[in-house]
Amino acid sequence: MHLYNRHRRLRKNEAIRSMIRENHLTPNDFILPIFVAEGEGIKEEIASMPGIYRHSLDNTIKEVKEIWDLGIKAVNIYCKVSDNLKDNTGKEAWNPNGLMQTTIKAIKDAVPEMIVMPDVALDPFSIYGHDGIIKNGEIVNDETVDALVKMTLSHAEAGADFVAPSDMMDGRIGAMRMALEENGYHNVGIMSYAAKYASSFYGPFRSALDSAPVDSQDIPSDKKTYQMDYHNSEEALREAIADVEEGADILMVKPGMAYLDIVKLVKDNLQVPVSVYQVSGEYAMIKAAVEKGWLDNDKVILESLTAFKRAGADLISTYFAKEAAKLLNK
Ligand code: PBG
Repeated sequence: MHLYNRHRRLRKNEAIRSMIRENHLTPNDFILPIFVAEGEGIKEEIASMPGIYRHSLDNTIKEVKEIWDLGIKAVNIYCKVSDNLKDNTGKEAWNPNGLMQTTIKAIKDAVPEMIVMPDVALDPFSIYGHDGIIKNGEIVNDETVDALVKMTLSHAEAGADFVAPSDMMDGRIGAMRMALEENGYHNVGIMSYAAKYASSFYGPFRSALDSAPVDSQDIPSDKKTYQMDYHNSEEALREAIADVEEGADILMVKPGMAYLDIVKLVKDNLQVPVSVYQVSGEYAMIKAAVEKGWLDNDKVILESLTAFKRAGADLISTYFAKEAAKLLNK
């Protein structure tokens, strides 16, 4: 054969492959989600997420120092609080001395340059496990937004660099942005979970925080009235455009691996930084296959994370951040 184009010429060896490589993964791309528990000296492994722990604050600080040294520059924070602090209003969420607020302060004291991005949503503080306040069986939007604004201000007060609303209420980005401006927090960013789908891939996270929606006749058993329907993609663009107009700085798509088309859609249509969340169920799937000896841990981690970059993500929230940073630093 006399072929003009032989694509394999550019794959001949690692030197040429590395020269023409289009996307690169570095620890700068990562945000590590961390679970914080009450108490001291606690390091509890999450059963469905081998290698991922709920740490008490003292151990959280050790972890944050360690990952900073690996080159990871941002963390998402999620808190697990005891049941007696939960109610329908979620008011523990904006307690100035709550676990979240204390954690934000402690991280900023210990590693001031670490970008701290606390989660803004009521579910870990709700007796019903929903991201909003419930009235007559409905998750009410506008009252929930008022609560999220209080939560946002308490995070800003504690020293958060960004807030990361994961609740999917309408109009919350605008309300949060306005409240931040009015209270002098001009430089606090918003990483909005703009396109967050009602997904079965969140299971392990909900057991980590004990935050699954309760089983009750009067309460919706899923989050489909606020999180998005996974059959849709145009709708993701409407959500994303609205959040940019309302003042979001970074847009997140979630989950990750099954939603790469949405990452690309948002990135191609809006000139803003896009992050993607490789969620708990995705981590669990990979680790389960690795434990069975069916997948190569290191190679699959790097391949799955690079796919996010290829789809257009600027940032990746991933439970693999620490392991991947170690692999990339080798
Ligand atoms: C809740 C929240 C969830 C996740 C992040 N924030 C779960 C949910 O919406 O029920 C999921 C993250 C993961 O699965 O890793 N506001």
